[in-house]
Amino acid sequence: MEPTTFVLFGATGDLAKRKIYPALYNLFVDKKLPSSFTVFGLGRRELTDETFQANVEKSILTFSRRKANDPVQLKQFINAFRYNVLDIGRKEDYQKLLNRIEQREQELAVTPNRLFYLSVGPEFFETIASNIKESGLGSAAGWKRLIIEKPFGRDLQSARWLNQQLSQAFAEHEIFRIDHYLGKPMVQKLGILQQNNPVLNALWTSRYIANVQITASETVGVEERAAYYDHSGAVRDMFQNHMLQLLMMLATHLPKNSSSEEVRSRKKQVMESLVPLQPYEVAASVIRGQYQAGQINGEPVIGYTSEPNIAPDSMNDTFIAAKLQIDGAFWRDVPFYIRTGKRMKEKSTRIVIEFKEPVQQRNNETKTPNLLVFEISPNEGITLQLNSNEPGQSGDVEPIHLAFHMNGSEMPEAYESLIHSALYGDATYFAHWDEVELSWKWVDPILKAFEENLAPLHYYPAGSYGPAESDELLARDGFHWWFDSKPEQAAEEKEFALHVNK
Ligand code: BG6
Repeated sequence: MEPTTFVLFGATGDLAKRKIYPALYNLFVDKKLPSSFTVFGLGRRELTDETFQANVEKSILTFSRRKANDPVQLKQFINAFRYNVLDIGRKEDYQKLLNRIEQREQELAVTPNRLFYLSVGPEFFETIASNIKESGLGSAAGWKRLIIEKPFGRDLQSARWLNQQLSQAFAEHEIFRIDHYLGKPMVQKLGILQQNNPVLNALWTSRYIANVQITASETVGVEERAAYYDHSGAVRDMFQNHMLQLLMMLATHLPKNSSSEEVRSRKKQVMESLVPLQPYEVAASVIRGQYQAGQINGEPVIGYTSEPNIAPDSMNDTFIAAKLQIDGAFWRDVPFYIRTGKRMKEKSTRIVIEFKEPVQQRNNETKTPNLLVFEISPNEGITLQLNSNEPGQSGDVEPIHLAFHMNGSEMPEAYESLIHSALYGDATYFAHWDEVELSWKWVDPILKAFEENLAPLHYYPAGSYGPAESDELLARDGFHWWFDSKPEQAAEEKEFALHVNK
């Protein structure tokens, strides 16, 4: 790996403490950082290098997935950290920073490769990028890269504007847009599995697949993010980015040894083939929901509009379910159902692929299709449901499960693999501008329909699987959401749910 100066805006923020420092530490332990590596943390507060280093150490002791129990190793890691005061709008601060970075690069006698990480609110992205350019921070002899967090715009127009601003300072190949779902090991596996298993590749068509269900349910509510969330809702917070990225990763057909460009261009093709919605059509295929008071794990919780700093008459969506169609040779007539929400019954991100031609049970009317389930988080695994029978028993067909589970404690966190890729300059698991633009384009009519109340707001009790209308969305096509463990759902399905959730 090439020597790198890692310049972190928002170094005293929550994301840095909880995710970025622990990720860097784990990469260091795994010997996955460049041998010459300096971090310049930036913030508005006055801090000495020593205080900053002590804060970084504390965040590692608190949040790292691995215990930092080797003090020598920890010290060695912490020594790479420096701190600079910086007011985002003050040009002199960038100049001072440049001097300090240059001094460090000269001390180490390294090529000035600089990775700028914007762990700050989106309202600062444009100012920072242009100051990086103006100050000369971005024009050294080595490479420069920019990592930015979501949200990338709040609709198509603002995303285009932002991209245009950023592109004055950074070229597309230098911009790494984080979507942390793309850093999840099971999401990256979706592409790898397809490329390396002809059997899966062959099955990935409307000939065999009846429908695909993508769920990301959360038990948390709005938490302390009312100001942001009440103006974003599930559609902007989760659907436009994470959920559509899951759809793209699943629906691509990747040839073996696909390059980063190939992966991203195939994902783009998926987005281009999504059948667009008009605002007046939204109500028919998109369910907008908001949680009311209920119970999570036996504990009572309040409804969304009673949460602190949420307007009592807020119509914000805390849940969204949608039916999407891909108009391409592989997926024509296969519905893709996507749902995500806060204050739902369980924390789970999973993709269920339901195959065609379900088997009719002998004694009752239950149909048992073959299912392929990708558990993405918090548990990670793949389960295939086949139909078999118990030897020596009645001969009834019963589902059996072939399962593979990954060991949670060993798994690198999404931020580790993403930062590692950015250090390498590998953009495969970052959102390309084309994907972001096409996602907003698809979502824009939904935003419009919500704003203009063309789609009704449905309510659901906290601790449920969302509004009943979300179930009806599938029932209309003769399907149901798998593994919601509702009383009316079959016993073996509940057993499967326990099996995949354990
Ligand atoms: C974030 C959203 O991007 O993803 C949060 O802003 C959400 O609202 C989170 O809770 C979910 O991420 P994960 O990895 O816990 O599924």
